[in-house]
Amino acid sequence: MRTSRHLLVGALTLGSLIVAPTAVMASPAPPANPNASQHPATIGKDTLRSLAEEAGIEIGVAVNADLLAGNGKYRNIVNTQYSSVTAENVMKWEALQPERGVYDWAAAEALIANAEANGQVVRGHTLVWHNQMPAWLTGGDFTAEELRAILEDHVRTVAGHFAGDIQQWDVVNEIFNDDGTFRETIWSQAYEELGLPGEQYVADVFRWAHEADPDALLFYNDYNLEFTGAKSNAAYAFVQELLADGVPIDGVGFQGHLDTQYGYPDLRANLQRFADLGLEVALTEVDVRTFVTQKPNGTYTNTPADPAEAAQQVEWWAQTLEDCLAVEACNSYTVWGVSDANSWIPGWFTGQGAGLLYDTHNNPKPQYEALREVLRDAA
Ligand code: XIL
Repeated sequence: MRTSRHLLVGALTLGSLIVAPTAVMASPAPPANPNASQHPATIGKDTLRSLAEEAGIEIGVAVNADLLAGNGKYRNIVNTQYSSVTAENVMKWEALQPERGVYDWAAAEALIANAEANGQVVRGHTLVWHNQMPAWLTGGDFTAEELRAILEDHVRTVAGHFAGDIQQWDVVNEIFNDDGTFRETIWSQAYEELGLPGEQYVADVFRWAHEADPDALLFYNDYNLEFTGAKSNAAYAFVQELLADGVPIDGVGFQGHLDTQYGYPDLRANLQRFADLGLEVALTEVDVRTFVTQKPNGTYTNTPADPAEAAQQVEWWAQTLEDCLAVEACNSYTVWGVSDANSWIPGWFTGQGAGLLYDTHNNPKPQYEALREVLRDAA
């Protein structure tokens, strides 16, 4: 049904474009402006967020703070379609503490103010990660003791500053390697130098974050937890230890960066086993990338190279949301970016793209319709 309706609309548009120029020498009708918004600027009953509300979950999006401020069509999508927002970059360490002891809250605060004005909750992303750290920190010559103090200061200051505004914090991000070993970072190294287990910094940052913001739900967030395997198993064992030690962890975030060249993960079973530990779970960064066609000049289009994989993308979008809805403790489902015009994928995975719900003109794709259908069925 969904696909045929879409094809019909496409055929009608094409028909009118072909007919117009033949009309007795009159100048052809201008093509429809692809940059015009296809959504009304109000929260209708058919938006993702109203359907998600009926289905009982938050539906979120990672937001680029500059586009939110400067692009009306982008902002309209964020505010009318989503009930939760995550800062794509402006709450990372390099953005919040660009110089030692100098915090810059402006961009993150603007994002939160917009969310509050639009009745949205905020996922904080992220207090501790090995990427997007400022140069003063990675290039600084700090002792292990200084590093531990720097870590504590950042976590307490940031969590405290935003206390009351954050529904869920990604307290630590990407702490395991794919082979199931604990990721070595400046923090684990510092702890080891202090004679402590490297992974003990995780328990500390959860405790500091909880003291600074007792109301936020505190998450460990990672990729590839969707698949059962060394990494997911190690994470599963690790969070059980945290719980046994009384560490205030509330949830586990499954990033959900899927790629059609790999199989669909046993996501539901993995969400469920973490949920069975008494934790919340969430899909925090969903996108579904695929290989796209190349132009003669070598740059890439946004057109999936393989139509079968393009169809699979739509299926997988629906499945990820169905998997979340099937697990009672999965209350939040976030997509990593508004559209293919501003997705991180082409910059990070050469030759891949088309990973989001909207196209490069910020117009909805079949994957958007697929999510609406899943939500309607769940309501
Ligand atoms: C990405 C952003 O989307 C990019 O804009 C930035 O250049 C790099 O980081 N996992 C995460 C996110 O937890 O923070 C990453 O976001 C994507 C992978």
